[in-house]
Amino acid sequence: MADHTQLIQAALAAREQAHAPYSKFQVGAALQTSDGTTISGSNVESASYGLSCCAERVAIFKALSENQHHFSALAIASPGGAAPCGACRQIIAEFAPEVTLILVDSGSPNATAKETDIKTLLPDAFTSADLPE
Ligand code: THU
Repeated sequence: MADHTQLIQAALAAREQAHAPYSKFQVGAALQTSDGTTISGSNVESASYGLSCCAERVAIFKALSENQHHFSALAIASPGGAAPCGACRQIIAEFAPEVTLILVDSGSPNATAKETDIKTLLPDAFTSADLPE
């Protein structure tokens, strides 16, 4: 099994940069690319609440916008080690379907993180393959 210690540390560090003044629920994400780069993100909330964006999507969109398209792992750090929301599951299924998802409880950062994958969290996902040509 791969050692995700550094990726977990990156997710915890990204969480410190969260802009979450409304929910106070700070989340950090760190994406491992297949060339060894780590790209992180944190949740960013807007005063117009519905415009807020989750840490996972920030990280994935940052990576895609930097021409990174191949990912092996995604660590997500939040209080309690929450699993990604439905919107993020869709984006993970589309853009990072092969990643090992590592759910980290930021309140117990040294505890063993839970590992899962998007096929478990979002079976039968809708993807571009479902669109007509
Ligand atoms: N949030 C994430 O960043 N990732 C998730 O998977 C769940 C929720 C953020 C969105 C919002 O800023 C805050 O956590 C509370 O929902």
